[in-house]
Amino acid sequence: MTRSIQTALVTGASRGIGQFIARSLSDEGYNLVLTGRSGAEVEALAQEMRAAGAAAIAIRADLTDTTSIAQLVNVANSEFGQIDVLVNNAGGDPQREFEEMSWTENEDIFRLNVLAPMHLTHLLLPGMLERRKGHIVNISSLAGRIGFPFTEAYAAAKDGLIGFTRVLRNDSRGRGVTASVIVLGAIRDAGQGQRTSDELGLNLSRAYTAPASSVGKAVLTAIRKDRAEIVVMPGPGRLMKAVMDLLPGFGPSMNRMAGADATMRRVIEFRKRSTLGA
Ligand SMILES: NC(=O)c1ccc[n+]([C@@H]2O[C@H](COP(=O)([O-])OP(=O)(O)OC[C@H]3O[C@@H](n4cnc5c(N)ncnc54)[C@H](OP(=O)(O)O)[C@@H]3O)[C@@H](O)[C@H]2O)c1
Repeated sequence: MTRSIQTALVTGASRGIGQFIARSLSDEGYNLVLTGRSGAEVEALAQEMRAAGAAAIAIRADLTDTTSIAQLVNVANSEFGQIDVLVNNAGGDPQREFEEMSWTENEDIFRLNVLAPMHLTHLLLPGMLERRKGHIVNISSLAGRIGFPFTEAYAAAKDGLIGFTRVLRNDSRGRGVTASVIVLGAIRDAGQGQRTSDELGLNLSRAYTAPASSVGKAVLTAIRKDRAEIVVMPGPGRLMKAVMDLLPGFGPSMNRMAGADATMRRVIEFRKRSTLGA
């Protein structure tokens, strides 16, 4: 018997870009397993999808906790039988200075942004390989390539996620399972960048940001066309990424000229004041 409806697990579905990804997949006809730590928000999205006729469930999980990750996979498998598509979207950065954060805080950034996607893949891959069917989509960032200020641990994790996806894709494709990485530049309309800009009263220029809806579309394109890597930014994204790799000083110079260094300094000071409760 052919199983036509597929199930996708989307992490980071409580807010931001994850909601756009989840809606794109739901509109495409996928069953959805939605997760995040904010149970009420994830449940609200699942309800919205069920009201539209889709099968969607919400499972609360903290992806910095390995027990929580294992429970998430167990519940998802028992509810839907199998996961066909895993979208590792949950992630982010506290926007604070590397040396001022504790080592545990830096480790948690790494855990969330690269170890959790690897762990989820490790748990779901055997079933996918057995069925000879599955797609892992990892949401990464240009932060490391462009040398975006104050993102040391985050950039290391997101670059790590690109390397992980490439090797996983190479090792699994001959066995029916594939992997794609979506590398994001600055995103507007939703997500951390938009929230920070709103908090500080900054304007996110359309010239260097892509809308959150384009990430949902990129995930669908990656799955339909089995793309190794998609860069989401205005203009020739993959070319820009290649230029930044060729000329490592180019990204930081661009950041300085575009005022990103000064802006991130403001964000850091704002985060410091918030952390101190000022
Ligand atoms: N926004 C951008 O401009 C941009 C640029 C480049 C890359 N990205 C990447 O795009 C992805 C989505 O980012 P976003 O901007 O949408 O971020 P966001 O609005 O801050 O949302 C992050 C999501 O991750 C979840 N999450 C955070 N910590 C978690 C934890 N410990 N356990 C489980 N879930 C957790 C959050 O849910 P809970 O808080 O409910 O747990 C939330 O649903 C991330 O991987 C980010 O690195 C974003």
